[in-house]
Amino acid sequence: MLEDKPRKLKDVKRQYDELSTTYDEFGETFESKQEQYFRRELIRKHLPKQKDARILDAGGGTGRTTLPLARMGYQVALCDLSTGMLDVAREKLRREGLLEKVEIREADIASLPYEDELSDLIICLAAPLSLADSSKAARELTRVLKNGGKIIVDAFGRYRAAMREFSRNPEVALKLVRFELNYAYDRHGDWGRVFSPEELKELFERNSIKVIGIHGRFMEFIPKEIQEAKEWSEELFSKVFEIKRCLRSEPSVIGMAEDLILVGEKI
Ligand SMILES: C[S@@+](CC[C@H](N)C(=O)[O-])C[C@H]1O[C@@H](n2cnc3c(N)ncnc32)[C@H](O)[C@@H]1O
Repeated sequence: MLEDKPRKLKDVKRQYDELSTTYDEFGETFESKQEQYFRRELIRKHLPKQKDARILDAGGGTGRTTLPLARMGYQVALCDLSTGMLDVAREKLRREGLLEKVEIREADIASLPYEDELSDLIICLAAPLSLADSSKAARELTRVLKNGGKIIVDAFGRYRAAMREFSRNPEVALKLVRFELNYAYDRHGDWGRVFSPEELKELFERNSIKVIGIHGRFMEFIPKEIQEAKEWSEELFSKVFEIKRCLRSEPSVIGMAEDLILVGEKI
């Protein structure tokens, strides 16, 4: 079992530097396409109206979120811990002639190199909050968010992590459900801070965020060969998407989601 505290930044950085050249290959799978559709839908709902608005993609990696936003004409600040992930993003932006729309910085989201209230929208998706020192990161993300600005941020789900841990080590599972342990593996084997929906809500409410919604990300109910497939029928894709749409915002099940996604507004 790893320690009950954030992993060292240099270890996380090394991990993602090593992953960087193959990271986008995962983007072609059924699972990833489902996630991209959901992400696009969610972000679209909260996009600022004015195109000169500033959007921060925090822990944005190879630019999966930054790229479509830059294509839409937004000014984006992309930051990440990993030089390798940012190099991949830079190259993709360069190829599309979008480099001047994006300011790229190597930074820890728990210590952001931006002035207060810079961003109209902050997106922090696919694990950065759980991988970072989450309390500091929540403080920093909300510091750089404008009053009235929106934040969309995800984190590993506590209860799902506990259930997953049960087959390996029931003692650990018990500690997780009793809140005696706050760190666990996500389903990809990443070690990070886990949250119940209430904990995630409280973390951001403490930092002047009014929570607009909490959603759950569900994928493990689908057979692994479908999750990892690179070809599928449109019918299957839309059925799975609809099932997940129903589960995503259903209060009686979101605590069991693999990841939680919080949408909030700074007040
Ligand atoms: C699974 S990737 C997700 C990347 C991107 N957000 C996406 O949706 O594709 C997790 C990213 O979080 C970054 N990360 C982890 N801890 C971080 C921290 N403390 N500060 C900034 N970035 C961090 C990693 O370098 C990696 O690029």
